Amino acid sequence: MEIAMTTSEKLKSKPDDTGLGFGTIFTDYMFNMDYAPDKGWHSPRIEPYTSIEMDPATMYLHYGQGVFEGLKAYRTESGRIQLFRPEENLKRLNRSSRRLCIPEVDEAFALDAMKQLIATEKEWVPGAPETSLYIRPTIIAMDPFLGVRASHTYRFFIILSPVGAYYPEGFNPIKILVASDYVRAVRGGVGEAKTPGNYAASLLAGEHAHEAGYTQVLWLDGVEQKYLEEVGSMNIFFVIDNEIITPELNGSILPGITRKSVVELAKHWNEKASERKISIDELIDTHAAGRLKEVFGAGTAAVISPVGKIKYGDQEITINNNQTGPFAQKYYTAITDIQYGKAEDPMGWIEPVA
Ligand code: COI
Repeated sequence: MEIAMTTSEKLKSKPDDTGLGFGTIFTDYMFNMDYAPDKGWHSPRIEPYTSIEMDPATMYLHYGQGVFEGLKAYRTESGRIQLFRPEENLKRLNRSSRRLCIPEVDEAFALDAMKQLIATEKEWVPGAPETSLYIRPTIIAMDPFLGVRASHTYRFFIILSPVGAYYPEGFNPIKILVASDYVRAVRGGVGEAKTPGNYAASLLAGEHAHEAGYTQVLWLDGVEQKYLEEVGSMNIFFVIDNEIITPELNGSILPGITRKSVVELAKHWNEKASERKISIDELIDTHAAGRLKEVFGAGTAAVISPVGKIKYGDQEITINNNQTGPFAQKYYTAITDIQYGKAEDPMGWIEPVA
C-alpha cells in the first residue's frame, strides 16, 4: 500500500529542547489509516495533525474499545534518528488488538508508516539530554452504535510528541503506596493488553496515593491481593541479595518492552535474574532481614525509576537509604546508552530511521 502525503500550509514553531515535559506538544503531521470489513485496512496517509471528527455515538467513546502503544525515537550525537525495538511494540499492539476484538495490522507495514512519519518530522526529534520523540500508535472503534459488540470500522493513527522526563523527580527515587482498596487488573481481564480501561482503572488509587504524599501506587494481584504486579504504569523489579526479580507474566501484568530488555540484559551479563511470583510479605520480610537491596520500576516513558520508600498498611520501609542503587543505575545507563547510540548495540535492538 502506498502512503499518501498531504503537506501542511503552515508549520508550528518548535519548542525549546531543554524545557520539555511529557505529552503536551504535538508535531505538524500524523499518520491515519481506516478499517472497513469490505476493504480491510485502507487509505494510509500522512497528513497535517488535526482533530478526529466523531459521531457522539462512536463506540470507542462509550465502550473503550481501543488499544495503543508508546515508544520513542532518539537523536544520537551524530544526528542519526533511531528507534528502540519498535517491532516489539507492534507485536504487542496486535496482541492487545486480539484481546479487544480489533482487526490486526500488518506489522511490517505499520513500522514502515511509523518510520515515514518520523522521517517527515525528523526536525522534531529533540537533541537535549534525556529527551526524545514519543510515538503513540492508537486504534479506536469508529462505528456510531450504542449496542455492545465489536465495532465493524476502526481508525489507526500515530501521533508524535517531543518529550523530556516523565516524572518531575527525573531519575531519582520515588515514594510508592501499596494499593489495598483497589486493583488494577484481574487475571482473564485486560491487564496484559495496552488498552485505555487499565489506565482509567488506575486513576482513583493514584489520586489517593498523591493525597497521601506518594508518587505512585504499587499494585497487588486482583485475585488474592498478595502478589506484587506493577508500579504506577510501569513493571516492577526487586533486587534481593544479588538476584534481580520481576513478577512473572500471568495475564494481568503488561508485558513491558523495557521489562523484557532488563531481563535479557541480565541474562546477557550472566547475572541472576528470575521471573516469578513475589508476595508483599516476602518483600517486607526480605527488607527486615536486610536482603532487599533495590526496587525499581521499568517502562518506556521513564525507562528506570528507582523506588526509595514503600508504604504498606501502617509501615513504611526505606530502600537503599532512599538512594538510586547500583542495579537501577546500571540498567538505566545500559539501556539509554543503546537508545541514544552512545554504546554498541550487542542485542540488535536499534532500528535506524534517518
Ligand atoms: C510507560 O511507558 O511506562 C507507560 O506505560 C506510561 C505511558 C502510558 C505514558
